[in-house]
Amino acid sequence: MSDLKNKERLDKILSNNGIGTRRDVKHLIRCGKVSVNGVAVFEPEFHADSFSDEICVEGKKLNVEPNAYFMMNKAGGAVCSTKSDRRRTVFEYLSPEDNRMYPGGRLSTVGRLDADTEGLLVITSDGSLIHRVTFPKYEVPKTYLVYLRDVVDDSKKISYEKKLASGIHIAAEGKDGEADCRPAVIEWKDKKLYYTKSGGTPSEVCCLTVTEGKFHEVKRIFKALENEVVYLKRIRINGLFLDETLPEGSYRRLTEDEIRLLDAEEKND
Ligand code: URA
Repeated sequence: MSDLKNKERLDKILSNNGIGTRRDVKHLIRCGKVSVNGVAVFEPEFHADSFSDEICVEGKKLNVEPNAYFMMNKAGGAVCSTKSDRRRTVFEYLSPEDNRMYPGGRLSTVGRLDADTEGLLVITSDGSLIHRVTFPKYEVPKTYLVYLRDVVDDSKKISYEKKLASGIHIAAEGKDGEADCRPAVIEWKDKKLYYTKSGGTPSEVCCLTVTEGKFHEVKRIFKALENEVVYLKRIRINGLFLDETLPEGSYRRLTEDEIRLLDAEEKND
């Protein structure tokens, strides 16, 4: 990994490590009370590497808590936000210990899934990894298992494949305008090997791989193909696959190897 990848704003590092709110730490920095490698820094937006740079606050070395990385098999119904009056948030599935270790909203999800979408969700305190995995320019592939409302015959399957490969046009939804998607890849599955929640056979099953994260992208793509997603589960982000042994709604820490498989390489413009 290059050095630049691990750098974060100084005010963010300080607030993430319990020195104070963003506002408090900005004040400390502007007053010259924070140094990086022995030199006072006055700009809150200065970028430092919290692991390799020595950061001191009022002469005392900052104790940096290592980043946390969790893989969750998100349950249908859970919402990817920090607060919700109506539903359980994905953060409420974490043990009190894991929540306690990361106060101040330090944990975030790597991208979002709709409330009714299940499957692979990564929760981490590593802001630069979130940026690399979710920022569109990195074109990180994400694969979804999709059950469709309607049967798709062989000739239609070919037409879906062509339309997806050339970048399908999707209609506006919510605040998101109409758009041309990046090319996506569809792989048809043997539906007899899959079950709906009620134990039946789905009408059609496929895996769709997209490389961007537009709002409701997968659902909008199948709407544009005059079909409808009736079940959606994310099974892959980059080289990281959902651990299918994780029961719905549970989670575990990622291994070092898995973090590497998830991470995206820095791309130059
Ligand atoms: N696309 C969707 O439509 N929903 C999700 O949750 C993820 C991708």
